[in-house]
Amino acid sequence: MKTAILYYTFGGATKKEAERMARELGAVSYRVFEARKRSLIGSFIPGGLQAMHRKAVKIKPLGAELAGFDRIVIGCPVWAAYPAPAFNSIVELLPAGKEVELFFCEGGSDPLADEEGTKALVEKRGCKVVSCRVVSTGEKPSKLKE
Ligand SMILES: Cc1cc2nc3c(=O)[nH]c(=O)nc-3n(C[C@H](O)[C@H](O)[C@H](O)COP(=O)(O)O)c2cc1C
Repeated sequence: MKTAILYYTFGGATKKEAERMARELGAVSYRVFEARKRSLIGSFIPGGLQAMHRKAVKIKPLGAELAGFDRIVIGCPVWAAYPAPAFNSIVELLPAGKEVELFFCEGGSDPLADEEGTKALVEKRGCKVVSCRVVSTGEKPSKLKE
């Protein structure tokens, strides 16, 4: 099964998990970048609100043809108990008919809310959610230094 892993990371934890999965599954991974650079403060305001309202944000072109994959894994951090806004942008890229696995990295403050609503966004694209899991990273909010 040809698998692509699409992930967004702010602090690096989701990247670590995506790369681990890519090795385990023999999958290709693509890191998604927001078009506008975000500061740590900007991740809370407006980032947290965007997450809670399930707002998509502009992302840089992915450079991948997703139609060629059977299964797509999406990984994203939890912000204000919802998937970070880039998750909503990634969902908009999904071609119909794919099997989708979701994983969300959370630090341990507020747990992921409304998992069913998150899955529904993917199903609305004509895709099937085959799994959804939370990875407890124990990581405090931070910005990856690059
Ligand atoms: C803006 C912001 C909001 C966050 N909100 C939550 C939250 O509601 N619940 C939680 O458990 N962790 C929360 N965290 C912590 C992250 O989910 C956690 O550190 C995660 O591992 C980050 O993944 P990343 O390093 O790939 O960005 C938040 C972090 C940030 C930056």
